[in-house]
Amino acid sequence: MERATAMLLCIWRKWKPVIVLLIVNFACMYLVHIALSVKFYKPKLKRDESVKRQGMHDTLKELQREQPTGTITRRERRYPVFQDYNGAYEENTNCKITLEQFRQGHKTGNPLIDNYGSSGHALTPGGFGRGVIASQAEQSRVEKIMKEFQVNILVSDVIPLNRVVPDSRINGCAYLRYPDVLPNVSIIIPFYNEWPSVLLRTVYSVVNRSPRQLLHQIILIDDGSSLENLKSLEDYIDSNFPKDLIKLVRLPQRTGLIAARMKGVGVATGEVLIFFDSHMEVNVDWLPPLLFEVSKNRSTIAMATLDYIVADTFVYKYNENYLTRYGWSWNMIFFETFFRDDQIGAETTDPRPGPSMVGAAFAIDRQYFNHIGGYDENMSVWGGENLEMSWRVWLCGGRLMHVPCSRIGHIARTQPYSFPGGRKQVTNFNYERAIRVWMGNYSRFVHSIDPEMETLDVGDLSHREAIKSKLQCKDFNWYLNNIWPELNIYDENVQYWGMVMNKALGLCLDNDNYLFQKESPALLKRCSNRIDLQGFSLTHAGHLRTTLQCLTPLASENEEDLQVMLRDCLIDKAATWNYSEDEHLMHTESGLCLDIGNKGPVVRTCDSQSITQIWTFIKII
Ligand SMILES: *[C@@H]1O[C@H](CO)[C@@H](O)[C@H](O)[C@H]1NC(C)=O
Ligand SMILES: *[C@@H]1O[C@H](CO)[C@@H](O)[C@H](O)[C@H]1NC(C)=O
Ligand SMILES: *[C@@H]1O[C@H](CO)[C@@H](O)[C@H](O)[C@H]1NC(C)=O
Ligand SMILES: *[C@@H]1O[C@H](CO)[C@@H](O)[C@H](O)[C@H]1NC(C)=O
Ligand SMILES: *[C@@H]1O[C@H](CO)[C@@H](O)[C@H](O)[C@H]1NC(C)=O
Repeated sequence: MERATAMLLCIWRKWKPVIVLLIVNFACMYLVHIALSVKFYKPKLKRDESVKRQGMHDTLKELQREQPTGTITRRERRYPVFQDYNGAYEENTNCKITLEQFRQGHKTGNPLIDNYGSSGHALTPGGFGRGVIASQAEQSRVEKIMKEFQVNILVSDVIPLNRVVPDSRINGCAYLRYPDVLPNVSIIIPFYNEWPSVLLRTVYSVVNRSPRQLLHQIILIDDGSSLENLKSLEDYIDSNFPKDLIKLVRLPQRTGLIAARMKGVGVATGEVLIFFDSHMEVNVDWLPPLLFEVSKNRSTIAMATLDYIVADTFVYKYNENYLTRYGWSWNMIFFETFFRDDQIGAETTDPRPGPSMVGAAFAIDRQYFNHIGGYDENMSVWGGENLEMSWRVWLCGGRLMHVPCSRIGHIARTQPYSFPGGRKQVTNFNYERAIRVWMGNYSRFVHSIDPEMETLDVGDLSHREAIKSKLQCKDFNWYLNNIWPELNIYDENVQYWGMVMNKALGLCLDNDNYLFQKESPALLKRCSNRIDLQGFSLTHAGHLRTTLQCLTPLASENEEDLQVMLRDCLIDKAATWNYSEDEHLMHTESGLCLDIGNKGPVVRTCDSQSITQIWTFIKII
């Protein structure tokens, strides 16, 4: 102890000037830090703890409704909202160059284009994809705003219109070189009462991050907006963007997303079309990978990979090295799902096929788009058009590819505006139009779940049916077997199917509406006649399948019995079963029989006397 004190004293004597200098130095740095904090933002740093990787477990019911998740990529800071939300986009910078000059790389005169990249600076609120949290004083105002717009326009107005976002691409993309000569593109962005800074940030991100020679035009379709702030959009575009780069079309009345997109197609002259929502920000080098995929095979829909911009803070989020495709089930629920091994190419960066697409952020050759029949213009407002197009493209000789190296951030939010007649009515109407044209008698599964759809009056379908015969499109069966084999066709190639009822309890096997690949326990519930929840098939291959999964016994930690789990039939190895004359379901590999445990279905030693081992298939439809 004494020796230690002596040593410290010795050090102090010897190094006194240096130590004093260090202390003073640190003190000064601290003071400067405080001064800066006071000047630029409230000193408290706040991490967004709500954001944990959840991956697959959120049902992506509709793109606009999902609350997707991601790893924390940038930390958020608490900033005071220091600018009024009307002011942010009203800068008169007078960009007067022609399209020709723009393509040759001339300066535009607009600092938001010419000084692109400067917003990555550490002190810029929202720079580099960070989020902004409004100060306490603004909270009640923010709440009101969120209710009205479903997106925090106060925060949007503070964040630079030309902010940089973090490179979210998966490993390997940054090393790929694409050909300089690719087809050029018209980008179609319909909007309805979109807040100007949100819309303009979408436009700036495209202008700033797309190779100029590939950007033929951006087409903004105002779908009958009533928002006062959008009235001066022409002026803003005129004075801030190269002449003729941005085309603004105002529709006198609201027509809905589908019709608005078609209006955009009508005026587009680029070789490829890309459809956008009005609240997106593209990522690094997003465009060439999409155009390359389309140029390789013109019968292609090339889909970008979506990142997430959080509606109330505008933080740009993504799951590192995460790729997803989109599946759908018979109850018309749309969700994220993994790729199968056989869909992943030699390189992880290679495009991969997908069974369905999201509505925004895809590229398609303009002639091909028209060739396969555009959109069904008789669909109403929004919703369902993405599924219809996915089915049609695959069935009529095209393909739908996910492009891992093209990434686009999208604000996930609830639709702030109304659907005439109600949202479910609108989407059901649209789905039903698609179902009647393409699904053939597989519609029986959808209609078994929602019988009202079957009797809907969906208007004239002859236009759409003409496309089907003109292009000699395949039957839906081909799509189900080749493109989306994950989805169970309950009554084809099966030995038995229906609800599987336990004799002792009178309860039925139930999948709890589970749509993902990670194992999850099978349940027993009151028999409901719901095919999507309780429909099971014993296939000729011996698999016991439900919507997407196969029943598989797996050891669990503190259970004596092997618990019976739902497990993806194609991605994981599925168990096989034998159904005997005495109505026992025997797991072939273990020779154990399906029975009831404390927590649900299990497998146990077969016992021909046990009535808890008796299972009956009961017809649903
Ligand atoms: C884009 O392609 C079209 C059709 O080939 C062509 O007319 C147009 O000039 C091109 N635009 C640019 C910017 O090269
Ligand atoms: C384009 O893709 C479709 C669908 O996969 C295929 O049938 C067709 O042969 C391909 N065309 C070319 C030129 O490779
Ligand atoms: C569905 O239609 C196909 C041919 O169109 C037919 O072979 C099949 O039996 C039908 N299935 C049912 C369940 O109606
Ligand atoms: C369907 O669209 C066509 C042309 O776009 C139009 O003439 C017709 O009235 C529409 N029908 C319905 C039921 O909306
Ligand atoms: C069990 O089922 C499989 C697949 O259905 C079949 O090949 C096999 O013969 C069955 N075994 C017995 C013992 O019934």
